[in-house]
Formats: sequence, C-alpha cells, structure tokens
Amino acid sequence: MTGRLQGKTAIITGGASGIGAAMVHRFVAEGAKILSTDVQTELGRKVADEAGALFMEQNVAEASGWQAVMDKAQSEFGRLDILINNAGIVIAKSIEEIDLDSWHHLLGINLTGVMLGCQNAIGAMKQNPGGSSGSIINIASTSAFTALPGDVAYTASKSAVRMLTKSVAVHCAQQGYNIRCNNIVPGGTHTGIIDAAKQVVPDIYDRVAAMSPLNRMGQGEDMAGAALYLASEDAAFVTGSDLLVDGGMLAVHPGY
Ligand SMILES: NC(=O)c1ccc[n+]([C@@H]2O[C@H](COP(=O)([O-])OP(=O)(O)OC[C@H]3O[C@@H](n4cnc5c(N)ncnc54)[C@H](O)[C@@H]3O)[C@@H](O)[C@H]2O)c1
Repeated sequence: MTGRLQGKTAIITGGASGIGAAMVHRFVAEGAKILSTDVQTELGRKVADEAGALFMEQNVAEASGWQAVMDKAQSEFGRLDILINNAGIVIAKSIEEIDLDSWHHLLGINLTGVMLGCQNAIGAMKQNPGGSSGSIINIASTSAFTALPGDVAYTASKSAVRMLTKSVAVHCAQQGYNIRCNNIVPGGTHTGIIDAAKQVVPDIYDRVAAMSPLNRMGQGEDMAGAALYLASEDAAFVTGSDLLVDGGMLAVHPGY
C-alpha cells in the first residue's frame, strides 16, 4: 500500500459488510484513521477490529445518531477529512407493490441518511484545525441512470442522491469551504445485496456479470480503489462528479 491517506481521518457508514467493509480495510491500509458505523453491531465491530478501525453503532436515518458519530470522531481524531455515505438497502417492490412504510423506510436510509451525513460532515469539516477542508463521497448506483422496474424506491433514492451530491458540491465550492462532494456509481457488485437476490433469481451472478462488457461482477475492492482516489489529494479538482465504476455497463448500447 502507498500511504495515500496518511494523517487523514474518515467516517464510513455501512462498514460492516460488502463495499463498506472493503473500504474500511483499504483506507486503514492506506494510513487513515477510520470510524466505521453500521446497524449490524457484531459484524461491524468484528470487521473494524480486524482492520484496525473504530466502530460505533448508528442508524443513518436518525439525526441524533449523526451528532453522536461526529462527537466520537472529534473526540478520537480531532478532525474529519472524509465521509463515505455508503449504508444502503434495497426493497424489491415495483410501483404497484410498494407500500408507504417501505417507501419511507428506504428513503430514510438511502436518501435522508445521506443528506444528514453531508450536513453533519460539512459542520465538522468547516472546524478542521488548519482550515475548512474535506471530501464527502456518496454511493449512488447505475440505477441513478437506468431504472430498476422491480425496485422503484431504490431507483428513486439513488437518482436523488446523485443530484443531492451535486447540490452539496456546488454549495461548498461557492462558499469557499474547500470541501468536495462526489458520487461513486457502482455497477453490479458482489456483496450481500446480490447474495440475497440469489434466492429469487438463481442465476443472478451470471446475469449481473453479463451487464458489464468486462463480463464480471464488481468487487468491494473496485469501489474502495475509486473511493481512495476521490478521498485523496489526487482528486483536488474533482467535485460534483459521477465516478462510474460499472465495468462499462452504462457505456454499452442496450442492443449490443
Ligand atoms: N452491490 C451492488 O451491486 C451495488 C450496486 C450499486 C450501489 N450499491 C450501493 O453500495 C452501498 C453498499 O451496499 P453493499 O452492496 O455493500 O450491500 P451490503 O448489504 O453488503 O452493505 C450495506 C451495509 O449498510 C448497512 N445498513 C443498512 N441499513 C443501515 C442503516 N439504517 N444505518 C446504518 N447502516 C445500515 C448494512 O447493515 C450493511 O452492512 C449501498 O448504498 C448500495 O445501494 C451496491
């Protein structure tokens, strides 16, 4: 590893599994101090212990929890350089199937959770010793560009996150905060979300791999590498962007 995040501090939500866990491992390996959060406490703590990160229980949909997480980062690290809003869920329901409780539940985590994260991180990053600075990374999805008919709430949440990111990025730039905000747009990535779908779609691995011209599923490490770039000084002139990490999925014409 290259130590590209030496001296940096980060909060990573949804750090117990999948993409978030891969990011926790990679960021610690690159020299960052990490506070990982998740609703899955046992697994979250195990992953954090193995990586050498701190862990805290958090439901990203709750405003009070965000304040507690910021207080913990402040007391442990004394500054916040990076926030990765990674926690997210799927609910396999179309527009005809979705009920209001499911809709609010998903949007509370996937959209409101990201908004609260951005708001709290900006507050913390503005107070950084040496001056306002930071990098916020939101995890969108290819479904922010192409719709999933079987998951209307997820599609709506990820397309909203995509533009939320741009609004935050431009606001911070115009205020002169030196706080960047970008989206990672993962394609189909082999995590618990895909494993869960295997029960209803037995050939899900092959189907997801076939979506990419590279003919494989993404791995958590692919997303961690992209996050490393956006978090580092190499991306100092990158804000409000969508970093596609989808194996070329959105580049290919649907007829080919
Ligand atoms: N796997 C894919 O193909 C794929 C593709 C595009 C985008 N994404 C996005 O990547 C992110 C990570 O997903 P993943 O694939 O690693 O799935 P995952 O299920 O392995 O990880 C999601 C994590 O978020 C946590 N979480 C759920 N609700 C939470 C809450 N209210 N508060 C805090 N933590 C909560 C879960 O406990 C879990 O550890 C999600 O935002 C997802 O939408 C995934």
